[in-house]
Order: sequence, then structure tokens, then C-alpha cells
Amino acid sequence: MSENQKKIWITGASSGIGKAVAEKFALEGWKVAVSARRKEVLDEMTKTQNIFSYPLDVTNEDQINSVFQKILNDFGELDLCLFSSGTYDPKNEQKIDPDKIKNVIKVNFFGVVDCVKTVEDYFKKRKSGHISIVSSIAGYRGLPNSSGYGPSKAALTNFCESIYFDFKKFNVRISVISPGFIKTPLTDKNNFPMPFLKTVDFAAEKIFKGLVKENAFEIHFPKGLTLTLKFLRVLPYKIYLFLVDKLVKR
Ligand SMILES: NC(=O)c1ccc[n+]([C@@H]2O[C@H](COP(=O)([O-])OP(=O)(O)OC[C@H]3O[C@@H](n4cnc5c(N)ncnc54)[C@H](OP(=O)(O)O)[C@@H]3O)[C@@H](O)[C@H]2O)c1
Repeated sequence: MSENQKKIWITGASSGIGKAVAEKFALEGWKVAVSARRKEVLDEMTKTQNIFSYPLDVTNEDQINSVFQKILNDFGELDLCLFSSGTYDPKNEQKIDPDKIKNVIKVNFFGVVDCVKTVEDYFKKRKSGHISIVSSIAGYRGLPNSSGYGPSKAALTNFCESIYFDFKKFNVRISVISPGFIKTPLTDKNNFPMPFLKTVDFAAEKIFKGLVKENAFEIHFPKGLTLTLKFLRVLPYKIYLFLVDKLVKR
């Protein structure tokens, strides 16, 4: 192992986007700490060189802290944290169910906030490094059947914008990732045709490039979809609501 080997911690790494990104970083020679609840999946992933398993439920604050300390002990340092854990169940989003909405926000928003809080002092003292958060295009504006997931991601993107300024003073980069539709167990639950649907390998390439080779605040892809939605985002409500209503009725 080279002394200069870069080190990353990835949550939500047992499946989908997080898993593909973990494998990409490992292949590129990074030392990778992978976290999620399913220990057996993470342990299986450690058969790949450079990947190390640290099971974690992001709704458990104490566990986040002890896992982070363990990774620091084992790795010595961390250059990058990628918080990708998330949950979504479209069946639960059609009718307003406050308990289910609270659970989505607990995992998708507070789970990430607690992870960022846990690493905050470390990165601020280090005066270098990078924290990246996987949000979603679903957070750009309100969409149908997304009464919990959409708000959780809107809050997450806004949170990233907010902490960007504070961490910048300490030379710590904050970035937000806004994927379009990527084929994973999460989107397999959708029962509508997903425009511009891409593979996890496509997402992993875009994320690796955005995190390591570029310096933008937002990493978004595929551009065909994200640029269209960015355009919709700036439209007045009257036009936005009319267009989305028409699109979903088609
Ligand atoms: N797929 C898309 O089209 C898409 C688009 C935009 C944004 N995203 C976002 O991308 C991220 C990854 O999603 P994905 O599509 O790759 O879905 P996925 O395959 O279902 O992966 C979700 C990951 O989050 C982990 N996770 C869920 N709850 C957790 C908890 N309480 N504690 C720790 N880990 C937890 C899961 O692991 P365990 O079950 O083992 O805990 C899994 O590793 C999510 O934040 C999602 O919102 C996805």
C-alpha cells in the first residue's frame, strides 16, 4: 500500500449507486470504507482489494460516531466522505402518511446530517478534504407521488448549499450529487417509464470524475434530464404546474 493512498468513507455502499462508486474508487487505488446496514453484503464486498467493511445504521447517532472513530483508527485519515444512504418506497408516497414521511426524512435527511456532524470537527481541524452528499433531482421542485422522498432531498440539497459557506472557510469542499434515474433496487420499485434511465456504472463514472477530477459544487447527470429539470425549476408556478400536470397525464 502506497503512503499516498487516498481514503474514502462511503455510506449506502451495500447496493446501487453507493456500491458501484465504492468499487470504482477501489479500482482506482483508493482505500475504501463501506457502510450500510447489511453486514453480510459489505463483508462480501471486501473480497475486492482496497474495500473494508464498517456496518452502520445511519439512524443511530452513537453508531455513526463509533464507526467513524474505528475507520479513523484503521485508516489513519480520511480525504473524502460520500454520504449516499437513502430510502424510497413509491407505494408509501401516494397518500399522505406522516409516520412514513417522518421515517423517510429520518433516514434521507437526518441520517446524513448526523454523518456530517460526526465528521465536521475532523475536517475543520484538518483544513482540507471533501464531504459529498447524494441528493436527487427529486429535490429540485415538487413532483407527483413524492410527498416524503422529494421534501427529504430538497432539504438535503438546501443543507449542502448552507454548509458549503461554513466549510469553505476551513478549506473543506462540500458537494452535492443530483442523479437522474439510475437503475437500482430503489428505482426498480417505480411503475412508470423512467426517462434517460442509466446504469450504476454510468453513475459511478460520473461521480468519480465529479469528485476527483472536477471541482463543481453540484455533480448532476445525465445532462439530458437534469438540464431539462433545471429549466423547469426556474419557471413560474403557473407554467411549471401546468407542464408537469400535462407530462404525468400522458
Ligand atoms: N437510483 C436513482 O435513480 C437515484 C436517483 C437520485 C438519487 N438517488 C439517491 O442515491 C442514493 C442511493 O440510492 P440507490 O438508488 O443506489 O438505492 P439502493 O440500491 O436502494 O441503495 C440504498 C443504500 O442505502 C442504504 N441504507 C438505507 N437505509 C439505511 C440506513 N438506515 N442506514 C444505513 N444505510 C442505509 C442501503 O443499505 P442497507 O439496506 O444495507 O442499509 C443501500 O446501501 C440514495 O440516497 C437515493 O436517494 C438515487
